[in-house]
Amino acid sequence: MSPTSTSLSTLTQAHCQALDAADPLRSLRDLFTVPEGVIYLDGNSLGVLPRATAQRVAQVVNEEWGVGLIRSWNSAGWFESPQRVGDKIAQLIGAKPGEVVATDSTSINLFKVMHAALLIAAPAIKQGLAGQKPAKNIVLSERSNFPTDLYIAQSLCAQHGFVLKLVEADQVASAITEDIAVVMLTHVHYRSGAMHDMAALTAQAHAVGALAVWDLAHSTGAVPVDLHAAQADFAVGCGYKYLNGGPGAPAFVWVHPRHAERFEQPLAGWWGHAAPFAFTPDYQPAAGINRYLCGTQPIINMAALDCGLDSVLAAQPLGGMAALRAKSLALTDLFIALVEQRCAGQGLELATPRPHALRGSHASFSRASSGYAIMQALIARGVIGDFRAGDPSAAPHSADGKDILRFGFTPLYLGYADVWQAVEHLVQVMAGEEYLRPEFNRKAAVT
Ligand SMILES: Cc1ncc(COP(=O)(O)O)c(C=O)c1O
Repeated sequence: MSPTSTSLSTLTQAHCQALDAADPLRSLRDLFTVPEGVIYLDGNSLGVLPRATAQRVAQVVNEEWGVGLIRSWNSAGWFESPQRVGDKIAQLIGAKPGEVVATDSTSINLFKVMHAALLIAAPAIKQGLAGQKPAKNIVLSERSNFPTDLYIAQSLCAQHGFVLKLVEADQVASAITEDIAVVMLTHVHYRSGAMHDMAALTAQAHAVGALAVWDLAHSTGAVPVDLHAAQADFAVGCGYKYLNGGPGAPAFVWVHPRHAERFEQPLAGWWGHAAPFAFTPDYQPAAGINRYLCGTQPIINMAALDCGLDSVLAAQPLGGMAALRAKSLALTDLFIALVEQRCAGQGLELATPRPHALRGSHASFSRASSGYAIMQALIARGVIGDFRAGDPSAAPHSADGKDILRFGFTPLYLGYADVWQAVEHLVQVMAGEEYLRPEFNRKAAVT
């Protein structure tokens, strides 16, 4: 049974309950602690707490740190945890064991791989010849890419004589020309949920001698990713979104083996040294991906991320990412159909592409105004999504310039009846104009 094959007249609560009863992934919900009365549609921002995490973190604190003390770097495997956790991430992104490390933040990892990519594109920058304009001197990205990606690219371009060229999403392919050194893109867009064709754009980049760097923040654990099949060059991604690693979880970094041995990363720290405990004064990069480590890792957060990954990998015997993707699409299809049917005339416009191949695991609706207040009213009812302000650099009156209500669908812990309930709350918020109440119009620091 799939909601997409169902006519609108059967979009009923009973039908949603029947879909849940027939859902082969239903048991995975028991791995999580979704608070009573909450319908959580924000796993694309901060994943839900897995049941195993609290106990595991307590064990790390009380036993491994409390009793094992410094011995735990060896006896509890702390030192190898970036690689051990990285190997679990590798299973979700089409990478091989030993190719991924969990470490630092997405922003910091992006800085490392962008620097490495620019060095490949223009080796002269390594000799401090940044004053000489590289033959290929353009970094290409999307105008509305996540700001941290743009800021990191801006700072590196300014340091090394490159120019950052930003185009609209639908112009990326035609902008990949001979003067492009690096194409830096986020696979699934943070506002719209639109998904790029990673293999096609990477092939296009390679055809003009450019490299492809991918941010998988909204992809890992959300959509099937195959970095090797796509022949990508570098990738980074987040641990706290669909990987359920908790606030501030380490991010990850992947480098295609064809590049891994060739370049030092710019943040040369002792954890990325070939022999950290030799304490030699000169830096010698470690083999392969290990050189992308820098300093001491946050072991408690790493343990939480490990549990988060187990909660995603628990889907492997049930069909893995393919099964998660099928359910995520069914949930979003259902949500979109219900909102469009039941909130018609309320100014909510789908801002996410409809075709499955063009979107990730969240659905966004734009509205000319009151987006923030509508989301606050929903949150007060226990339906947690989030709000993104209109993009101030967007063309006037374009969809990008409007408020965005984002709803993330994590198939591990969401069911079809949850979707029904969430839309029922939205209908009431809109029909009763609850969002006009003053308490929903006061902005908090984090939206
Ligand atoms: C596409 C993208 N990249 C990066 C980040 C965040 O990076 P960091 O974890 O370094 O704050 C986000 C956060 O939402 C994101 O959406």
